[in-house]
Amino acid sequence: MKVDLLQMVEYGGCSAKISPKQLEEILKYLPLPKDPNILVDIDTHDDAGVYRVNDELALVLTTDFFPPVCSDPYEFGQIAAANSISDVYAMGGDPILALNIMMFPAAKLPMEAYADILKGGFDKATEAGVRIIGGHTIDDFPPKYGLAVVGYVHPQKIITNAAAKPGDYLVLTKPVGMGIIMAGQRLGMANETDVNETKRLMKLLNKSGAEVMKKHNIKCATDITGFGLAGHAMKMAKASKVSISIQMKKVPLIGNAYNLVDDGCIPGASFRNLEFVEEHLFEDSTLDYNLKMIAFDAQTSGGLLMCVSPYSVESVLKDLRAEGLTSSAIIGEVTGLKGRYLSLEN
Ligand code: CO
Ligand code: CO
Ligand code: CO
Repeated sequence: MKVDLLQMVEYGGCSAKISPKQLEEILKYLPLPKDPNILVDIDTHDDAGVYRVNDELALVLTTDFFPPVCSDPYEFGQIAAANSISDVYAMGGDPILALNIMMFPAAKLPMEAYADILKGGFDKATEAGVRIIGGHTIDDFPPKYGLAVVGYVHPQKIITNAAAKPGDYLVLTKPVGMGIIMAGQRLGMANETDVNETKRLMKLLNKSGAEVMKKHNIKCATDITGFGLAGHAMKMAKASKVSISIQMKKVPLIGNAYNLVDDGCIPGASFRNLEFVEEHLFEDSTLDYNLKMIAFDAQTSGGLLMCVSPYSVESVLKDLRAEGLTSSAIIGEVTGLKGRYLSLEN
């Protein structure tokens, strides 16, 4: 029996995240533990928590899991694992260990699909140098899968979303439009080339991008996932107490993503993300509506967004492209805090 996981879900991948506005409401009630060894906690809404063990070593801890973002169980496992590990790369860490987190409807799906999801996760983790040493499964519908990941980082070499400096350029390593293309596939609007390219990008580890960040001593980055390019850029600006401008025409897009939006293919997650960012958004009066909605498209296992000094930006781009991240581009810049955190222009 050929299993099609996409038939089981309304929202898959990072589009299934709870609305960022609701999440922010709830987090207000969550007490933050106080401990001088906690170097990064959820206070700055960073990608992962960081805990200092000694002067040489800190642990990076993160977890992500979600319902299927594609039809094939093995590919779903690969994408979910790449996405979970990504938050360690975004913090400048080396991912080391992981645990599987699985929800699987045993009565509704053949056990082969269960095994294939885990196999996809295992193979992607192995590619990243991560050993999966345990896990936990709950019987639940629809299926959901991801990892809890532990990585190492030197306490002085943590990359955070709170270190953007005025004058920095913003560099993005993967094109945008994953949510749009996968929604388009469901509606029969997306072409096969774009769907395959989207799956390739979602499976692609942010490992090589992270190595370029380390080589160039980059201090500020985040990965682009469920809150979309605009949502994660806004969080970075807020945590860094700066303003960020993005020129949407410079943002690399996957295939026909623009035309799909023009034809009305805008996933629901985009509107939730817009609602979250709106009060912090300055929108240029000429901003193209389709480009605006693309900025809010939820990405699954999206690229790294890094802040790079003008002195090293050309060599960073050269190194990223040499690593196969050929769409890497400068998409905007950081300025001192003026009015709103995020500005979107054409
Ligand atoms: Co992240
Ligand atoms: Co995450
Ligand atoms: Co258990």
